[in-house]
Amino acid sequence: MPALLKTLALAVAVCAALVPEVATARQTSPQEINAKRNAAVERFKQARRGPDTDLRERQLDRRASGTGVKNITFTNPKASQFYVDGTTIPLVDFDVGPSWSGLIPISGAANETRKLFFWFFPPGPEGSLDDVIFWTNGGPGCSSLEGSFQENGPFTWATGTAKPTQNEFSWTNLSSVLFVEQPVGTGYSQGTPTARNENDVAAQLVGFFEQFLEIFSELKGTKLYLTGESYAGMYVPYIANYIYENATDLDWNLQGIWVSDPVLGWDVVQSQIPAVAFVHKYEHVFSFNQTFMAQLDAVAAKCNYANYMEKFVTYPPTGLLPLPGKSIENDRGCDVWDLIFDEAVNINPAFNIYRIFDTWPILWDVLGFPGSFMQEQTTPLYFDRADVKAAIHAPTNVTWEECSDIDVFPRGDASLPPAFTVLPNVIEKSNRSVVVHGLGDFILIAEGARIVLQNMTWNGQQGFQTPIANDSFIVDGVGALGNMHLERGLAYVEVALSGHMVPQFSPVAAFQIMSYLMGFRDSP
Ligand SMILES: *[C@@H]1O[C@H](CO)[C@@H](O)[C@H](O)[C@H]1NC(C)=O
Ligand SMILES: *[C@@H]1O[C@H](CO)[C@@H](O)[C@H](O)[C@H]1NC(C)=O
Ligand SMILES: *[C@@H]1O[C@H](CO)[C@@H](O)[C@H](O)[C@H]1NC(C)=O
Ligand SMILES: *[C@@H]1O[C@H](CO)[C@@H](O)[C@H](O)[C@H]1NC(C)=O
Ligand SMILES: *[C@@H]1O[C@H](CO)[C@@H](O)[C@H](O)[C@H]1NC(C)=O
Ligand SMILES: *[C@@H]1O[C@H](CO)[C@@H](O)[C@H](O)[C@H]1NC(C)=O
Ligand SMILES: *[C@@H]1O[C@H](CO)[C@@H](O)[C@H](O)[C@H]1NC(C)=O
Ligand SMILES: *[C@@H]1O[C@H](CO)[C@@H](O)[C@H](O)[C@H]1NC(C)=O
Ligand SMILES: *[C@@H]1O[C@H](CO)[C@@H](O)[C@H](O)[C@H]1NC(C)=O
Repeated sequence: MPALLKTLALAVAVCAALVPEVATARQTSPQEINAKRNAAVERFKQARRGPDTDLRERQLDRRASGTGVKNITFTNPKASQFYVDGTTIPLVDFDVGPSWSGLIPISGAANETRKLFFWFFPPGPEGSLDDVIFWTNGGPGCSSLEGSFQENGPFTWATGTAKPTQNEFSWTNLSSVLFVEQPVGTGYSQGTPTARNENDVAAQLVGFFEQFLEIFSELKGTKLYLTGESYAGMYVPYIANYIYENATDLDWNLQGIWVSDPVLGWDVVQSQIPAVAFVHKYEHVFSFNQTFMAQLDAVAAKCNYANYMEKFVTYPPTGLLPLPGKSIENDRGCDVWDLIFDEAVNINPAFNIYRIFDTWPILWDVLGFPGSFMQEQTTPLYFDRADVKAAIHAPTNVTWEECSDIDVFPRGDASLPPAFTVLPNVIEKSNRSVVVHGLGDFILIAEGARIVLQNMTWNGQQGFQTPIANDSFIVDGVGALGNMHLERGLAYVEVALSGHMVPQFSPVAAFQIMSYLMGFRDSP
């Protein structure tokens, strides 16, 4: 026997001898592990059906009720210019179904040069024709095609995966969904950014809505839900307030809002005060050494971040909540967020501010962002491909970026965070409103949202009157997946294990919460 073969034979013999040992030690074969994992995935997928099939049927009835017409057809001939054949979307190897996309001006003026890009998806077979969900991403200046392509649209291309897949938890299972790249300066949109504040943003979008409804006039009078995440915590309440107060001509029936991992208050509140407590909560994820932990604790104590929750966030609150120092960002020497970030990437180069559980390697992203790092591995980005632009009626002379490198507010956004201004009125005027937060988000931290809400007065009282109970967010068929509280028209939901993009990282939870917002179930 040649030497090499002999070695191989020996190796095989050794392995054979080891296998029973290993199997006994682990007591579970790879096949068994796979079977358990598959069963868990199946349970998760079935979760929405719940143990109570009658409930499921009733929910579906509520969704599917309405005109009885299952397929949307738009009679205005202009609509056909925007039609997208779902079999022709590049690199998507299944039929996405009909959709409509393209550029529409933000006013009817003949000289209007500013246009926003949209992608409209009609409801799938289980969705309602009486409702429309509007979705926007944040930034400011980040494209809402991130939402359509990686969060709650009918197909999804997740980071690190080889190709797009059908999104089982698409919000098109609930109703139509309209993704808009806004304000001017974002994504494929056309025109020079001029927005000075959130009122300008709202005026642009409502102008777009009016033009959109002229073309897609079958959608007039339907129920509208405004949704978005991150910096859309600024956009969405201001747009809603603008519609409730000033857009009486808009033939759309606004019902409520969803904001997830939203900017609602001061930066020091949403990113600094809770940061060190957050590191303690997830200390085994961060894995900082004890010297560094002691340093963080010292800064937190010096800057009045330590014990802020225990001292001031009471249910009900005893008065307005104080700032920890002088600044709405951070006082000198009190930027713990950056201290933590620098050390986190030192230990874990794949540390992701949008979902702290990520570890090496960094997964590639067909949109190039967002993670803590650019990770493209492909040029051009998906929405910058000529064939993609052609398929969805996008302008060919724009270099598409996930987040615009020009400022969509050339002189900054002069609006105050909405908790201090319009959000109370929006909650009061809406049937339902939800604030959702991923518990694994570090760029904006859930406890910060708790502080903001506890400092806000709506429907006659300040903050929540009773504590947010642990384990009170129950996902059908799964069990407790975080915390939930509902008072005076506002539902606040914290989703365990989710990062910043809740529909992406916890689609089952997001789908259930959205069903609540739309009145298809009685609690989130
Ligand atoms: C909707 O359109 C599809 C594709 O054209 C067709 O297969 C289906 O039967 C239609 N459904 C109804 C209810 O008209
Ligand atoms: C269009 O024309 C009107 C008046 O003719 C002017 O006030 C407005 O600024 C113009 N708009 C643009 C976008 O050029
Ligand atoms: C969404 O609709 C598809 C197609 O009808 C269905 O297979 C899927 O189970 C639905 N998902 C949810 C979450 O209802
Ligand atoms: C409504 O319009 C008035 C008059 O133009 C303006 O002063 C006010 O700021 C607007 N309110 C909102 C909520 O946009
Ligand atoms: C709120 O819900 C009620 C009852 O379901 C409905 O009649 C009403 O149109 C909804 N919308 C608003 C904005 O009140
Ligand atoms: C602990 O972390 C700090 C900050 O990175 C570093 O300076 C120090 O050397 C570390 N200590 C040990 C024992 O690794
Ligand atoms: C609480 O609200 C008041 C104004 O209503 C504001 O001055 C203060 O800064 C807020 N506190 C926090 C912690 O955000
Ligand atoms: C792209 O082309 C359109 C239409 O030809 C034009 O109006 C627009 O100004 C162009 N945009 C850029 C950024 O060149
Ligand atoms: C809720 O959970 C947190 C940990 O996430 C814990 O610190 C707190 O004591 C719990 N509250 C109650 C009332 O059990």
